[in-house]
Amino acid sequence: MQTLTNKRVLLGVTGGIAAYKSAELIRHLQEQGSEVRVVMTEAATEFITPLTLQALSQNPVHIGLLDRETESAMGHIELARWADLILVAPATSNFIAKLVGGHANDLLTTICLAAKCPLAIAPAMNQAMWGNSSTMANCEILLKRGIHFFGPEKGLQACGEEGPGRLLDIETIVIRASSLFDTGALNGKYLVITAGPTREAIDPVRFISNHSSGKQGYAIAEAALDAGARVTLISGPTSIEAPAKAHLIRVNSADEMYEEVHKVAMNADIFIGVAAVADYRPKTVAKQKMKKSDTLVNNSWPLELIQNRDIIQSVANYPSRPFTVGFAAETTNIISHAKQKLIKKNLDMIIANDVSDDSVGFNSDENKTTVLWKNHQKELPMMSKAATASHIIAIIAETLDKDTDD
Ligand code: C5P
Repeated sequence: MQTLTNKRVLLGVTGGIAAYKSAELIRHLQEQGSEVRVVMTEAATEFITPLTLQALSQNPVHIGLLDRETESAMGHIELARWADLILVAPATSNFIAKLVGGHANDLLTTICLAAKCPLAIAPAMNQAMWGNSSTMANCEILLKRGIHFFGPEKGLQACGEEGPGRLLDIETIVIRASSLFDTGALNGKYLVITAGPTREAIDPVRFISNHSSGKQGYAIAEAALDAGARVTLISGPTSIEAPAKAHLIRVNSADEMYEEVHKVAMNADIFIGVAAVADYRPKTVAKQKMKKSDTLVNNSWPLELIQNRDIIQSVANYPSRPFTVGFAAETTNIISHAKQKLIKKNLDMIIANDVSDDSVGFNSDENKTTVLWKNHQKELPMMSKAATASHIIAIIAETLDKDTDD
């Protein structure tokens, strides 16, 4: 199981001989599911090339504070905001001293000053430098400020001496970094979520759609990411911003949504169909805008519709299917209709919501739902869509846990 899923780690590399180990550290951080961006000090570039770290991290390496190219792509403030964790490994005695003094004369120290996320440092230096009273006093100050220390450990050093000052072994650094984050209820799980409405084209300017805003689906994606899951969000047209850490795939029609879902859903642990998928689409789509005179028959427009494929039902019928959760937006007999849908579509769970009331459901910021699964039923009173999402994710995680225990 990955321990750093969705986490953004900004790896600071300073100029000590242990800098060569940062290449391996990047790989280990990525194996645990994190995205890594590297900031190097000038001195670090003498020990390992930025190109190596760029190739491994798959992101440009940032070095200079006033580097026009990297600043335009992602400046120091953006990097500070981007990171969930700043990990400086190796951290030299010079870097430690600069951190104590609050210096901002290079990119890494500036980012450390600007960041609000946790900061962890893995010191590495000659044993006498580590034992020096200045270094010790500096470390004490940093510890008091809440900076996390990973190591150093004792052992044979590159300079031939033996003692404390060796960079902590890479695997332990990654374990210590992971332990700084709460382990979420869906840690390492892969979720595919559909959201928003679909648009079924009539001609190049007209379509059939519905009032779905995508708010509930996006909130569920956000709650799943918070719980440590990896999320692919397949969304119809919406005007809201998608969670930054989700892999977003935009679609228009139900048919496109069907195709995109089936590219990924077989690998999912959990599939949640929140999208309000149009049940029907026009039988033919006109290539040119239709004229009134083309469409009118006895003062009406007989538009022939054909049925769309049911996305969630096709996922639920995979031989080895993900835990499949549907939504039932209803206006009458909410619970009984939702129960019928649960059985008919072969789902593991369904969330019923009343969309007859304007204050809940489709376009509102709040929702009032009932979650139904196996022989259980849980009502979620009126609350924000974000809170509804957190409850739904917690119920799914609990149910999955119980199912694995059975
Ligand atoms: O049958 P109904 O449209 O009410 O079912 C709602 C549930 O089925 C939702 O989870 C929705 O995302 C899903 N659905 C689907 N494909 C369709 C229609 C609905 O996945 N073509």
